[in-house]
Amino acid sequence: MSVKKALDNNMAIDARNLYKSFGEPFTFKRLLKLPWEIFLRLTGGYNKKSVLKDLSFKVETGSVVGFLGPNGAGKSTSLKVMLNLIRKDSGQALIAGFDTEYDYDAALKTTGALVELPVFYEFMTGLENLVITSKIYKHITPLDIDESLKKVGLYEHRHKKVSQYSTGMRQKLYVAKILLAKCSIIILDEPTSGMDPKGQAEMRELIKSLAMEKKSTILVSSHLLYEIEQVCDFVVIIKEGSVVTYGRVADLLGSEHEIYELETGPGQIDGCLEYIRKKEYIIQADIKTRANTNFIEIKIKRDDASRAVKELVGQNYDIYNFVKTRRSLENYFLEVTGDGAAAAEKI
Ligand SMILES: Nc1ncnc2c1ncn2[C@@H]1O[C@H](COP(=O)(O)OP(=O)(O)OP(=O)(O)O)[C@@H](O)[C@H]1O
Ligand SMILES: [Mg+2]
Repeated sequence: MSVKKALDNNMAIDARNLYKSFGEPFTFKRLLKLPWEIFLRLTGGYNKKSVLKDLSFKVETGSVVGFLGPNGAGKSTSLKVMLNLIRKDSGQALIAGFDTEYDYDAALKTTGALVELPVFYEFMTGLENLVITSKIYKHITPLDIDESLKKVGLYEHRHKKVSQYSTGMRQKLYVAKILLAKCSIIILDEPTSGMDPKGQAEMRELIKSLAMEKKSTILVSSHLLYEIEQVCDFVVIIKEGSVVTYGRVADLLGSEHEIYELETGPGQIDGCLEYIRKKEYIIQADIKTRANTNFIEIKIKRDDASRAVKELVGQNYDIYNFVKTRRSLENYFLEVTGDGAAAAEKI
């Protein structure tokens, strides 16, 4: 069955109401319980583990989107379902406007995806593996191959057999393969896992440079939130198989409230806290400790910050430090995925 190209051509990726559940893995223990399982299946009482629950999000063509969520949230499962690597229970996944289940070839023609540890011809060198890839696509020249190896930082290792490559090098080689194929939609599941800090920085720069070129749409999952914050225009945050937040990074982090840290003179902190808490414009104020130093953390509207300082000075409090703290994607992630206490500690 062929499904017509979706009308919404501006969306490179469109996940619609995806559901996916897994049964128990097939083990000897499960075999022993098989009669009971058959009984439960027949009576409708067999419950599979529900992993994706009505998961929907869209990725605009040309954007760079971070796909985030705690361990086990369902990121890899979503990507595999969207790429039709595993079957879904229900829902629809469109890539480049085509249904990945029914129009697989059209949907994935221009898509490069690194979702599981990539497989190569182990007995061949990195370069030879790319030469094989180049045979599939007519337009690739030897110069393109060198270029893609240089871009991922593997040029020096091009004559090494893949069997001697580390996990990070294999990931880089696969990214080189995606670059070579000039994919317009790139999906990367934790591309920096298994890479050393240098490799992680190189991968971040590579994604950044691809983003700058504006030739590809990139969906990248990662736990390195600082990297994501630097590279991505949008983020999708999922938890327990559903989307909890979707938005432009700048909008999500730019809150109308700001957090300030206030250090007072010796012995003044309690009095200062009591005074400041009485002010109607203070949203929240608490004492926090870092490196054996106590300070007051104040949540306040941007316009009220100078007013607070003036009033404290007017009350003869010594202000040793009054500094705005940065709201990072990491803080935001911890807030929306429910670990608010941890987020507060970190701010
Ligand atoms: N083949 C499978 N059979 C059974 N359960 C599975 C299978 N694959 C994944 N799961 C379960 O689905 C849930 C989501 O897993 P998934 O790998 O998608 O999470 P993730 O968000 O990618 O996590 P991580 O950040 O650790 O990579 C987990 O609870 C996992 O145990
Ligand atoms: Mg995963």
